[in-house]
Amino acid sequence: MKHLTVLDLRKMKADNEKIVMVTAYDFTMARLVEMAGVDMVLVGDSLGMVVQGHDSTLPVTLDHMVYHCQIVKRGLRRAHLVGDMPFLSYQASPEQALLSAGRLVKEGAVHSVKLEGGQRSAESIHRIVEAGIPVVGHVGLTPQSVHAMGGFRVQGRAEDDAERVIQDALAVEQAGAFCLVLEGIPSELAAEITHRLDIPTIGIGAGADCDGQVLVANDLLGMDQSFKPKFVKRYANLEQTAVDAMKAYASEVKGGQFPDADHSFHRKRPAPRLAKLY
Ligand code: KIV
Repeated sequence: MKHLTVLDLRKMKADNEKIVMVTAYDFTMARLVEMAGVDMVLVGDSLGMVVQGHDSTLPVTLDHMVYHCQIVKRGLRRAHLVGDMPFLSYQASPEQALLSAGRLVKEGAVHSVKLEGGQRSAESIHRIVEAGIPVVGHVGLTPQSVHAMGGFRVQGRAEDDAERVIQDALAVEQAGAFCLVLEGIPSELAAEITHRLDIPTIGIGAGADCDGQVLVANDLLGMDQSFKPKFVKRYANLEQTAVDAMKAYASEVKGGQFPDADHSFHRKRPAPRLAKLY
């Protein structure tokens, strides 16, 4: 099956069809996401927190991202694959940004790359797009700037800060990005940006008026009940399901019920000997 392209995604905005995006970090999750018919899959640098257990995305390297993009790609058939550019893989210069984006495309087999920042990243976005690589922008709450923001805080609440986020969004579109993630901003601001841009906006903690939505797959599946930001809706409680299943397994191993005959291999029965005729 053909993967969705930047043209398909632009047409979805024009047709008022919402775009569904989720993150995935490995082949198993990519397969499930694909079976659910999701339009865009993001190998997010959130894997630094979700998979690697760090308290921010900052330690993630380009090598990590290439590896995870490769294994996610093997599980996809139709979805458009976006690879996230990790901290310090693009901030030094537009040339560094292009070379890093190129690795995600050449080695990670992604269809497009995502990078954080509006006006400050515009030149790099332009350089990458010029080289023929589609770019997804990301403005508002940008997790790679966690220390500069003083934590993972909603952006654009005050009027002058809202204006800054609008200018960032316009700069990303002008630089040639085909899509824009709006994270952690008031719904009204996201609605205004979505209205002003021709490219689709994908919201996370940005209200219902974006052209699409993205959530971290592990969050929507309820795989970590100790953590629940306001914008996350849990559609399952896989933490409980998984722990219950592990406990049942452990109890059967301890009690000697597993493995039973149905889950064990047996020697072949010898073929019956032919009776002697003479
Ligand atoms: O890294 C990530 O998963 C992201 C999404 C939350 C948009 O950037």
